[in-house]
Amino acid sequence: MISRRAFLSMAGASALASPMRVWGRAQSPPAIDAARLRRRLESLSTYGRPPGGTFASGVSRVAYSVADVTARAWMLEEIKSAGVAPRLDAAGNIYARLAGGEPNRPPILFGSHIDSVPGGGNFDGDLGVMAALEVIHAVQAAGLKTRHPLEFVLWAHEESTAFGKGTACSRIVAGDLKPGDLDQVWNGMRRADAIRRIGGDPDRIETVVRPKGSWHAYLELHIEQGGTLDRAKVPIGIVEGIVAIHRYDVVVEGFANHAGTTPMGERQDALVAASTLVLAVREIAASRQGRQVGTVGRLEVEPNSPNVIPGRVALSVEFRDLSEATLRELGEAVKARAAAIARDTKTTIALTLATTNPSAPAHAGVQDAIGRAADQLGLQTRRLPSGAGHDAQMIASLCPMGMIFVPSVGGISHSPRELTSWDDCARGANTLLGAVLELDRRDSV
Ligand code: GLV
Ligand code: MN
Ligand code: MN
Repeated sequence: MISRRAFLSMAGASALASPMRVWGRAQSPPAIDAARLRRRLESLSTYGRPPGGTFASGVSRVAYSVADVTARAWMLEEIKSAGVAPRLDAAGNIYARLAGGEPNRPPILFGSHIDSVPGGGNFDGDLGVMAALEVIHAVQAAGLKTRHPLEFVLWAHEESTAFGKGTACSRIVAGDLKPGDLDQVWNGMRRADAIRRIGGDPDRIETVVRPKGSWHAYLELHIEQGGTLDRAKVPIGIVEGIVAIHRYDVVVEGFANHAGTTPMGERQDALVAASTLVLAVREIAASRQGRQVGTVGRLEVEPNSPNVIPGRVALSVEFRDLSEATLRELGEAVKARAAAIARDTKTTIALTLATTNPSAPAHAGVQDAIGRAADQLGLQTRRLPSGAGHDAQMIASLCPMGMIFVPSVGGISHSPRELTSWDDCARGANTLLGAVLELDRRDSV
């Protein structure tokens, strides 16, 4: 809960800056409802829960799955219960707007995603969405009329499990949609049909794109997903920037042959080549100074039978760093190693740069607003980069962007064991609320 002293200082500051503030002595100070935030997160966790599981079992709510579709339907009702009307865009992103006192001002946008990785946790994305809904509740409950409209957003398809593409629908909003993207097939499903499954309309996809300046600012509350805040016992992280991501689709072609009759020297084993490449990715990323990381997270072996030498392997190679130049160098290094491995194993290895996420610095003004909000709540802060990708990095090309992190216990994420204390969830949500109100006071961020 927000302290009385913090509230009085917020109310005092805004009384000078914001003529639209209308709450009086009889009304409550703006604060989120921590119990409702928890209740909603617990309810959301039932969508995609393993059979017979509990909250601690986490969720598999991959974009476009039944769990995702049903959770989104439930979310539409929750959004309505917050007193705002949900609106789907043609990509399946869900917006809901609370009118401001000065309607010609661009809205302040805030939200996150509810799709998960397979075997994911209960907080990645979910916390940011539910906290955003709390902001909508809290502003109304306090009888407050902001100057800017406030806009809640639930981004569709953030994780890169489906179609190997992450931040997929905020990406379209930012104008990154290439010819043929909607014809991609994953799990036997065309991407256009996947978008239809969640209520989007691929035939009108161009209407999703928003011009620069569409919003006053974008804010996203998220769990850190690393261990910096937890180790330092600092409740609020102010993100300085989000790493760039380069992801390659790799196909290794060997020759499928009988595992019992083909002598060792005559094999063209695609899995042996792929395995050597996996180790090369680790070595390339680890053997230079810096925070860059490299991962092979997906491997599909064909025909995947114990008595057949693998003839084909498809895999992903992903590098992340704040510097795009570093990512290009890592890409060149892995291509050179792949050529050498292909020669040694009598296979062919093709690498295609499948997706890139730009690195995105958080706007200094938004970082400052988050810092002030945390100060007013008496919460210690630390600035840090984000090693995870976020929809915020797409929206950063359209308006000033900032992110608030809260601690992930043990730095665990993309796992059912992902955990953030309920108190930290509430602290993060109140900081989001304070930052939204702080940005509302400013004519320019
Ligand atoms: C999203 O969670 C990512 O960093 O891949
Ligand atoms: Mn994630
Ligand atoms: Mn996330």
